[in-house]
Amino acid sequence: MDPVGVIARKRDGHELTDAEIRWAVGAYTAGAFADVQMAALLMAIVLRGMTARETASLESAMRASGSTADLTGLRRAGARLPTVDKHSTGGVGDKITLALAPLVAACGAAVPQLSGRALGHTGGTLDKLEAIPGWRAEVPMPAMRRQLEDVGAVVCAAGGELVPADRAMYALRDITGTVESIPLIAASIMSKKLAEGADALVLDVKVGSGAFLADAASARELAETMVHLGADAGVRTTALLTAMDAPLGRAVGNALEVAEAVEVLAGGGPPDVVELTTALAREMLAAAGLDAVDPAVRLVDGSAMDRWRRMIAAQGGDPDAPLPVARHVDTVCAEPGVAGVVTGLDARAVGDAARILGAGRLAPGDAVTAGAGIEIHARPGEPVAAGGRLLSLHTDAPERIAAAREALAGAVGIRPGASAGAGGRDELGS
Ligand code: URA
Repeated sequence: MDPVGVIARKRDGHELTDAEIRWAVGAYTAGAFADVQMAALLMAIVLRGMTARETASLESAMRASGSTADLTGLRRAGARLPTVDKHSTGGVGDKITLALAPLVAACGAAVPQLSGRALGHTGGTLDKLEAIPGWRAEVPMPAMRRQLEDVGAVVCAAGGELVPADRAMYALRDITGTVESIPLIAASIMSKKLAEGADALVLDVKVGSGAFLADAASARELAETMVHLGADAGVRTTALLTAMDAPLGRAVGNALEVAEAVEVLAGGGPPDVVELTTALAREMLAAAGLDAVDPAVRLVDGSAMDRWRRMIAAQGGDPDAPLPVARHVDTVCAEPGVAGVVTGLDARAVGDAARILGAGRLAPGDAVTAGAGIEIHARPGEPVAAGGRLLSLHTDAPERIAAAREALAGAVGIRPGASAGAGGRDELGS
């Protein structure tokens, strides 16, 4: 196969054949198609798009680049355990998986959740859980099966043998401006999820400023593309489109988000996080054929918390250990003369600022800071006093605070006066 010819055909808007796509992914995984060539092909795909057939072909070529997990025949007390997974397309403050996996396990399903790290301005579930002292992301397949049968939930990294093509392409996309593409996101997510081998899959497709695809039409197209890929592979797949204009909850950043997820598991937590967690749990339980169980009850009766503690301990973590805290906290306040109601909090800006503070990576291979991130004191719809606290910036690197504040310029909308409504104006205090 002629590598330059394949790139040029996509550049010129032609539909690639299955053989060309299979060859490009296979050769890239084997090191015979260089990073620069794959980057050029990815950019051509971003600009020219892919047909449904090409996207399906890309997904199956990526999945075939490695082995698949075997989750068949999981049993507890002699009965077959249904497996169901959820995947979010990525957001800011999206700590839903942390409480959702043990919650669904407490309702009787097994949740094998292969998760990722921070990408761009969005957080990563593995980075969040690694804030817990001792917790390990790597779980070999036999231990994963045992944990699913004993505890019912595993959140871990995909082993090196599972979809190696995505691991390499994902890292390349992160540094070449080629993340925002429906066929590339759909093939990336679905190749991993289908390789994982769960019986059913629920997708949380984000829409809004903090999502990779900000507009509703693109998010819907992404959802439909992934649902078709799942159905074609024989996996029951459903999708919810959920808002990502403002961060979820009041915490953005690894340890801060773990603490908020624990509040949810203790029966409290911010209403938007609780609502999305229970909505996704209901979808997952319906997909697993367990829809008689009410997940809201399991959040207040302590059984979801019990699964969380067992899930963390099974992977070496200490659920009782204090979480790391940042060494410096800087508070952003409303202008002294402006009391009012918060009308908007731009998720993208908050995600960028949290990344700058150390919650994400600025360069590939950077370490994240467990305690870094942003605490939100006033969410959209909530009142703020003149000079009142809006955000607290947590970091170990105080020299980054100015850049984080700059990323947040204009991110908070405040409508002067006592009640929320239209016509907010942007205002960021000191
Ligand atoms: N999450 C993924 O796993 N892949 C993408 O391309 C985007 C979000």
